[in-house]
Amino acid sequence: MAKIAFKKITKQYDGTAKPAVDAVTFELQEGTTCMLVGTSGSGKTTLLRMVNRLIEPTAGEILIDGKNVLEENPILLRRRIGYVIQQVGLFPHMNIAENVRVTAEIAGGWTKQRLAERVDELLDLAGLPPAEYRSRFPRQLSGGQQQRVGLARALATDPAILLMDEPFGALDAITRARMQEELLRIQRDVHKTILFVSHDIEEAFKLGDQIAVLSEGKLIQLGSPIELLANPADDFVRQLVGADSILRQLQYLPVSTAMVNELDSNAAADSSVLPSCSSSATLLQAMFTLIEKNVTALNVYDEEAQEHIGYVTLTSINREVTKTHSELAAK
Ligand SMILES: Nc1ncnc2c1ncn2[C@@H]1O[C@H](COP(=O)(O)OP(=O)(O)OP(=O)(O)O)[C@@H](O)[C@H]1O
Ligand SMILES: [Mg+2]
Repeated sequence: MAKIAFKKITKQYDGTAKPAVDAVTFELQEGTTCMLVGTSGSGKTTLLRMVNRLIEPTAGEILIDGKNVLEENPILLRRRIGYVIQQVGLFPHMNIAENVRVTAEIAGGWTKQRLAERVDELLDLAGLPPAEYRSRFPRQLSGGQQQRVGLARALATDPAILLMDEPFGALDAITRARMQEELLRIQRDVHKTILFVSHDIEEAFKLGDQIAVLSEGKLIQLGSPIELLANPADDFVRQLVGADSILRQLQYLPVSTAMVNELDSNAAADSSVLPSCSSSATLLQAMFTLIEKNVTALNVYDEEAQEHIGYVTLTSINREVTKTHSELAAK
């Protein structure tokens, strides 16, 4: 298990006027993924690197499962924390198996047999068939494949925590999407606690249980993608998450945000025959169903309780997605 708690964590670099990370406080539950987003220079990398003590804080604390990281041996600490960065940094003279094995070898405590098995497991996990890839050298792999080796290597010691600093930033859109799927798959299997820096808000929405928005070293908002979209703390967050984009809202907001309890009389003619839709479906899915079935309303049911909880109509969807715009216009 690994829960990370940041308590007023602060870093001010020598000779600078302002802290790069300024009294940031939040918690990251074990087995969840938190995406760190914010403009360039907002302190994301600094925050990340204080977790594995590549950077020492000026003030405040970081606790892993209640234990202050500053009280731990940095070498032992880093064995429990996988670290993935954009520049993969594979050793060019080592083949892929050796590159994956190296962190586990340094950590020690593995038999040769177990190490070899572990390398194959990890290459499989990263979508690189071991028989084909284990003896190749980094230069014989594409950039995206090298990135996957980097991910496999970070997982080699089976760390409870993964720190990822724009790991997929340099990849083309298709490879990036594939890597994101791979990470989601790995996360479903092995449940790491992940802190992931990204400049790509789509990526943050796709991978994050929580999104932490940093600006000038301060934590501006922490919440689920939907919370950020539905209730951005300020105009900066609103812009960053694209809360003004109608398409973004349709894509991510659940039907439950646009539900009505009653239908007006002409729509209510026979509500028992209306098609239904789950409250967790997105507004976009609901809209497609409304158009496809050519009806004015859908029955919304709660997936867990399997019971009817309201209706959604084109009007109610429209009201929800234009809410932000009318709020803005009212300012
Ligand atoms: N070693 C250093 N000495 C002095 N200032 C530094 C040092 N490293 C970073 N900074 C400053 O701290 C601030 C935060 O830097 P950091 O690298 O954490 O930002 P970031 O959010 O990761 O940005 P990016 O998105 O561009 O990677 C910046 O203003 C940067 O100039
Ligand atoms: Mg950075």
